[in-house]
Amino acid sequence: MTERNIGPKWLSNAIFYEIYPQSFRDTNGDGIGDLNGVIEKLDYIKDLGCNALWLNPCFQSPFLDAGYDISDYYQVAPRYGTNEDMKRLFDEAHRRDMHVLLDLVPGHTSIEHKWFKESCKADPNPYTDRYIWTQGWFEVPEGYNALCGVSEREGCCVVNFFSHQPALNYGYYQPDKPWQQGMEDPGPTATLEAMKDVMRFWLSMGCDGFRVDMAGSLVKKDVEGKGTIALWRKVRAFLQAEFPDAAMVSEWGEPDKSLQGGFHMDFLLHFGPSHYNDLFRCEHPFFGGDGDASAFVAKYVDSYEKSERKGLICIPSGNHDMDRLARTMQGVRQKIAFAFLLSMPGAPFIYYGDEIGMRYVEGLHSVEGGYRRTGSRTPMQWDHSANAGFSAASPEKLYLPLDAAADRPTAQDQMGDEDSLRSEIRRLIALRQAHPALGNLAEIDFLPIAENAYPLAYVRSAPQEKLLVILNPSDRAVTLPWDRPLGPAVYALGGKIQKTENGLSVAPLSAGFYAID
Ligand code: GLC
Ligand code: CA
Repeated sequence: MTERNIGPKWLSNAIFYEIYPQSFRDTNGDGIGDLNGVIEKLDYIKDLGCNALWLNPCFQSPFLDAGYDISDYYQVAPRYGTNEDMKRLFDEAHRRDMHVLLDLVPGHTSIEHKWFKESCKADPNPYTDRYIWTQGWFEVPEGYNALCGVSEREGCCVVNFFSHQPALNYGYYQPDKPWQQGMEDPGPTATLEAMKDVMRFWLSMGCDGFRVDMAGSLVKKDVEGKGTIALWRKVRAFLQAEFPDAAMVSEWGEPDKSLQGGFHMDFLLHFGPSHYNDLFRCEHPFFGGDGDASAFVAKYVDSYEKSERKGLICIPSGNHDMDRLARTMQGVRQKIAFAFLLSMPGAPFIYYGDEIGMRYVEGLHSVEGGYRRTGSRTPMQWDHSANAGFSAASPEKLYLPLDAAADRPTAQDQMGDEDSLRSEIRRLIALRQAHPALGNLAEIDFLPIAENAYPLAYVRSAPQEKLLVILNPSDRAVTLPWDRPLGPAVYALGGKIQKTENGLSVAPLSAGFYAID
């Protein structure tokens, strides 16, 4: 494998906060969050300790998939503000030493995009090959869904996700039908150039990089990902030449592939081979107190070794596509889960509201293609004023209803309470920033863990220090084999961890970080 690119210097201590803009803070009373709302809350985010943002798509869109269906890559959607507001957001963030990633959706557009409208025409034009079209009017390509009956031209158009998201054409890894183009053909080459232009536009304005949507899906029939890796390497070369400080994180979920493609970071996700769900979101999640972390650890170690122990494998607290963390764990277990998230290598990502334990709101109808994801996308709960401080609109005009529970958590309450989840997270972030061994790039070595066993333990090391991290979210007292000396605790939560003859005895519901030699 070629030398791993660990990215711009600021990534080495970046801690991200994901903002779903429509639900964060509405400043003009239309019931939808906006960019001015994000600017207004930058100090709140900075106070938590996060120094970087990922914003979900904010571009012109019919919003059939919450903005992942873009109709103009170059315009901020009016409901969020203007391009000038975006520029101001970049400037205000930079003034606070913070960085901003936008969401790049390179795999598909909305059916309303002008490229698609041109591509539907019978007369050949520069957009004829911008999307993947079959030849026959009912020819649905093997393995993919397609949009049929929408065009003047013959053929159906491959879709990437929902049926209104036509797939941009980056070619087939090994074309085997006359209509399938190769990666180097003129159509796919022009598509990639168009996407580079989009990146240039926002990076020149002051954006610090991108979270890339469905990054592993661009080249079709590319089972091992080799074509898609090659395509991203071209993007890496372009960025290296023109925007070497731009940071790139992929929604791919297979770091052994994405990092080869030149991404600095990849997410572990609720889909794919990572066993992320075993920890947080399954019937018996490990951090729920009765689960298994062994398969996760084995897969993590495998990806980590393949990425040359450079570590930018990002484990999010959640995101706009998954159930809220609070659905499967509460109380001290949430805190232990964050002790894990904030002591692992890679850049941490906190989904807005997870820092106060916002709940998954059950029973909502689908809004903007959210389906069951809708319950994780409700308005941020700031305080006890009208609409929890999210918006001055009348409640029925809100983008989504608020969590109706009388005891719904708020940022204001938690900021005033030393024992709150938010205060715990704030301490953990400060600790991470103060200890080189907890840094994004510091190394990790797991202690052996058997199936269904507790605790989870690992050593983090930097040249200056080593820390042993022990996490026991179960309600049983357990023993960790350990015959080396144990230095002072730099962090302790819940029950006691003590040295005994056979190792360390670890109380139920506890976490601790210890200095070691
Ligand atoms: C990604 C996004 C998701 C979106 C899909 C299609 O998975 O995170 O929200 O619906 O891609 O763009
Ligand atoms: Ca608004």
